[in-house]
Amino acid sequence: MGAGIAQVCLQAGHEVALYDVDHVAIERGRERIADGLRRLADKGRLPIDPAELLARLRDAHTLEGLAQEADIVIEAALEDIDLKRTIFRALGASAPAGVILATNTSALSVTEIGYASGTAERTLGLHFFNPAPVMALVEVVQGDQTSRATMAAGLAFVDGLAKTAVACRDEPGFIVNRVNRPFTLEALRMLEGHEATIEQVDAAIAGAGYPMGPFALMDLVGIDVNYAVARALYEALEHAERFRPSPIQEQLVGASRLGRKSGEGFYRYADGQPPVISERLVEVGVGPPMEGGLPADEIVARIEAAVINEAYHAAGDGVAEASDIDRALKLGASHPRGPFERAGEIGLGPLIDRLAGYQAIYGERYRVAQVLWQIAAI
Ligand code: 3HC
Repeated sequence: MGAGIAQVCLQAGHEVALYDVDHVAIERGRERIADGLRRLADKGRLPIDPAELLARLRDAHTLEGLAQEADIVIEAALEDIDLKRTIFRALGASAPAGVILATNTSALSVTEIGYASGTAERTLGLHFFNPAPVMALVEVVQGDQTSRATMAAGLAFVDGLAKTAVACRDEPGFIVNRVNRPFTLEALRMLEGHEATIEQVDAAIAGAGYPMGPFALMDLVGIDVNYAVARALYEALEHAERFRPSPIQEQLVGASRLGRKSGEGFYRYADGQPPVISERLVEVGVGPPMEGGLPADEIVARIEAAVINEAYHAAGDGVAEASDIDRALKLGASHPRGPFERAGEIGLGPLIDRLAGYQAIYGERYRVAQVLWQIAAI
């Protein structure tokens, strides 16, 4: 994802230095950036020669060197808190005062990462969405110690990238990775329960106006990343049943079948060929559905109800206002409507009835959010 973020920064006119412990990863990143810029130029969407932008891209040979020459550092390492702590300890020790230290973490605590830097007041979250050059949203996350000046600088920086910034609190998964968790988890439950096939779920969701189904999305984001987010939320939210990670994901990660980036996940990818369903899923317990599979409208109704319910849980926990949650889901996950807008279409009474019906069949994870009861009672 670092390459996508670097491309966005170059397009906004910044000079960019890349750092990675693995030099091969830097080269791969450079190629992806060059490719992304070339594709935009070919479509006439880049007002400047890609070569000119690429001339503003260079390598930083050490993390300390990077921290000393940057105005803002954006870390996009693996979702491993110990790794991020180590990186921020080094950044905090070497970056001159005034340098903003940002993490692109998906679901780890920005506050904890800030403490590791030793200069938590200038540390914040800048959470981009995949693919970063396309997705309009950046969540600007305020850790417990992040100063107002740092938040203001972060919001202004995102504005300058021509992205939409949504400020949010340092709650597990921030807005999108929390509220949209059931989009993938509920789809995985359908697979675990042999209720539907991958094709059925992805086709049903695409048919309801979403740009891609949950399995195609997990392959795009990386099954390892999606699994790490699910685990982080499960840990942070007291092992709530609705966040329990899926054993299917765990096994795919164990087998290094991570989605597009490894050539295979739920689908198999070959250059120039349309993706096909991986024929090795049987190894992780995926089998044919009972009774031919759920109807498309039932698949959509269940996934949407779970996402809407999570939006109410999140609003009740003070994660963000309803309007920001709607905006974030539309811009950060390309949902055709925000969850509260969708709830308005369904009606709160029918929504509660639907969730209660699902709870009776599927259990605790569909329990109606307290706030939804309260609002419906007004
Ligand atoms: N990199 C750069 N550009 C890309 C791209 C990529 N990987 N994939 C697609 N694009 C561009 C295409 O070139 C095309 O550009 P154009 O309009 O200028 O021609 C545009 O995006 C649309 O692409 P396509 O027509 O090929 O396909 P779609 O219309 O289906 O759009 C998509 C692709 C934008 C990926 C769309 O399917 C989508 O919005 N999917 C949902 C993505 C999503 O939910 N992302 C968030 C994931 S969660 C996350 O990242 C958080 C993290 O913490 C886990």
